[in-house]
Amino acid sequence: PDTKDLQQALLGWFDAHARTLPWRAGAEGARDPYRVWVSEVLLQQTQVARGLVYFERFLAAFPTVQALADAPEADVLKAWEGCGYYARARNLHRAAKRVAAQGFPASYDAWRALPGVGPYTAAAVSSLTLNEPRAVMDGNVRRVMARLHAERTPTDAWAQARADELLDHARPGAWNEAVMDLGATVCIPKAPRCGACPVSAHCAAFASGQPAQYPAPKVR
Ligand code: ADE
Repeated sequence: PDTKDLQQALLGWFDAHARTLPWRAGAEGARDPYRVWVSEVLLQQTQVARGLVYFERFLAAFPTVQALADAPEADVLKAWEGCGYYARARNLHRAAKRVAAQGFPASYDAWRALPGVGPYTAAAVSSLTLNEPRAVMDGNVRRVMARLHAERTPTDAWAQARADELLDHARPGAWNEAVMDLGATVCIPKAPRCGACPVSAHCAAFASGQPAQYPAPKVR
């Protein structure tokens, strides 16, 4: 597909339709890394609608990374109730102590060195707060890539390579959120809303007439 046209179409849609979310306040590259970090950890295990509630509750308890670092672990686990996987909360707490002492990481690689920060979180936070060109990969992004290329069996490596190719290097954070929003609201699994899609003209699955067939349901 024509990458530049596709990027313009999706970013134009995002600029017009982006969901207003509490961790999105602030210009690109000027967003609070603590809020972005907490939101991205939460959103790995819950959808945005539920994540919003947990986010507000957690931020009310620990408004800053310093407040989180200073809190007893029992309080952190209490504030995490309902969010699943307490290991994530423990890692977030341990990492917050390091950040409170040393400052926020200044690169993807430095984020990766914190406890509990994997490729997804590091790519999200470094693109959204540092404008570092790192493409996020999750289930929504994988499905969008599979459909754009009409790939029935996308492997992790394949999907990451396609996401890396398409990433808009001028606006990596906006691009990542645009792909995630598209996957969450338009390019949905069962009945994709191709009539509302800003990039259907660039989509091989749409051209096939059977967009929901991409990717093929996983055989387990
Ligand atoms: N899912 C995970 N992170 C997200 C973000 N920053 N925006 C929208 N959906 C998301």
